[in-house]
Amino acid sequence: MARNCSNHSADSLVDTVEPSPWVVRFAALIPQSGEILDLACGGGRHSRLALGLGYRVVAADCNILGLEDLRKQKSLEIVEIDLETANPFVPGGILHGRIFTGIIVTNYLHRLILSNLIGALADDGVLIYETFSGGNERYGHPRNPDYLLRPGELLETARKRLQVIAYENGLIQEPRMAVVQRLCAVNSSPDGLATNPPYIAPL
Ligand SMILES: C[S@@+](CC[C@H](N)C(=O)[O-])C[C@H]1O[C@@H](n2cnc3c(N)ncnc32)[C@H](O)[C@@H]1O
Repeated sequence: MARNCSNHSADSLVDTVEPSPWVVRFAALIPQSGEILDLACGGGRHSRLALGLGYRVVAADCNILGLEDLRKQKSLEIVEIDLETANPFVPGGILHGRIFTGIIVTNYLHRLILSNLIGALADDGVLIYETFSGGNERYGHPRNPDYLLRPGELLETARKRLQVIAYENGLIQEPRMAVVQRLCAVNSSPDGLATNPPYIAPL
């Protein structure tokens, strides 16, 4: 995992190439019509999952070395970007104006772009987010509060603008003991969700 990027929120903790079960569970809710943004994608385990499901993917990270083997994938755009030196979603930013039908973020937090991230969701677009939460200090990195969600923070942030499909907050044991928050939310009005409810993947 990258060590030369500014945010070491969870570096070296994602040793697995297997996708997160949380992302696997909800990935199929993402409409096929557009592109998925895999933000702070690392080695691209979720980009790979999405490509395998037939999506077009934009994989963004400040360290793209782990994506070398994917360079020839026609459905993949690799964006080398430092998400923290400048907000990529504002005018002049590399992701400004881009709209995504799915956004996946795992094991990464940069609060200052959270709102912009939600703003980059297409109508009916799906946000899948999973990262470390306060309390994780007892179990390992990250311990820096800048990289740890506050209690309920992910839920409160999302529910202001999205319909939350699922949210969890607590201790996980796999791939190692950690405290996380994870969420799946849809950019849909409550009415839209009621008339056209998404399937929730079986547990
Ligand atoms: C723990 S890894 C998670 C990777 C991937 N999301 C996953 O779960 O497999 C954190 C990722 O955030 C990236 N990162 C850290 N600081 C960054 C920054 N300032 N801009 C862009 N990416 C950054 C790292 O390069 C690394 O790939």
